[in-house]
Amino acid sequence: MEKIKIIMDVDTGIDDAIAICLACGNEAFDVLGITTTYGNRKLEQTTENTLKILELIGRTDIPVAKGAEKPIIKVYEPEDYSVVHGYDGLGDMPDPLPTPEKKPLDISAVEFMARTLAASEEPITLVPVGPMTNVATLILTHPELMPKIKQVMLMGGSTLKGNASPVAEANIMQDPEAAHILFKSGLKISMACLDATWKGYIGFDELEDFKNDNWLSATIYDMCGIYAEHYKLRMKNPGLAMHDSLTLAWLAKPELVKSKDCYVTVDIDGRYTYGMTVTDVRNVLCHRPNATVSLDVDRVPFINMIKEAMANLAAQKKGR
Ligand code: RIB
Ligand code: CA
Repeated sequence: MEKIKIIMDVDTGIDDAIAICLACGNEAFDVLGITTTYGNRKLEQTTENTLKILELIGRTDIPVAKGAEKPIIKVYEPEDYSVVHGYDGLGDMPDPLPTPEKKPLDISAVEFMARTLAASEEPITLVPVGPMTNVATLILTHPELMPKIKQVMLMGGSTLKGNASPVAEANIMQDPEAAHILFKSGLKISMACLDATWKGYIGFDELEDFKNDNWLSATIYDMCGIYAEHYKLRMKNPGLAMHDSLTLAWLAKPELVKSKDCYVTVDIDGRYTYGMTVTDVRNVLCHRPNATVSLDVDRVPFINMIKEAMANLAAQKKGR
């Protein structure tokens, strides 16, 4: 089977950590590198978290490059997502992951993406699951490489309801101008958005099974305490939303996701709607669609994919 070549762009984060496990533990993917951005925590922390997860799963061969520490235009006031991901971004576990030995590359995220795209004979899929700052900067600085991008499979946005404002999703809200550049780029875009990611959850009871599945699932279980609390108490979701993992599941098994091609534009000047992905689901504007938008997911096989990836990784490395 030909593998899907991807570069992930992450703001690690608990659900990013799980997505990294899915990408590395599923044979559909060839993970060429991981770039980092500010988002769930500040850049230094999200980068360290990314390195920690790669050491945890024994994939220190995957290069990591540090990216943007703030949005392109928007004044950076770091969001405090510690109630979702913990102060350290990985759930403030009682037995935290050790400081990583692996270091990021000494080139920037955008430089890494540019060099990797330029060197590749086949087009590569970009998978941004944090603010879109790195990808937008790549678009602005390396237009000649756009044909080398097979597609952008992003996590962000929604057709209506937000989680960072009544109408804006967190990844888009953190850098709406960057997302605007991306949606106007003409690149092939798939938007794994809240409509489906809220439905792609690990049930609270199902999470209990993670304790006994294998050593990696048990570590993820320990990480997920605060994340579970957030989804139970504040979001009133039936379980823990696996936002970032949906991008990978959608790439590996498109049949799991119900989607629609739509015209999407990002509001960059609305007073109350700043950061909203205005999604023309009913084609009122009669514009040509510029994105494929996720509307629903077949939840059980999706969560099984995550569990299988963890079992694969756990079998390859014996313990933390
Ligand atoms: O809105 C969910 C997204 O925001 C996810 O990517 C999560 O990790 C946070 O970055
Ligand atoms: Ca994320």
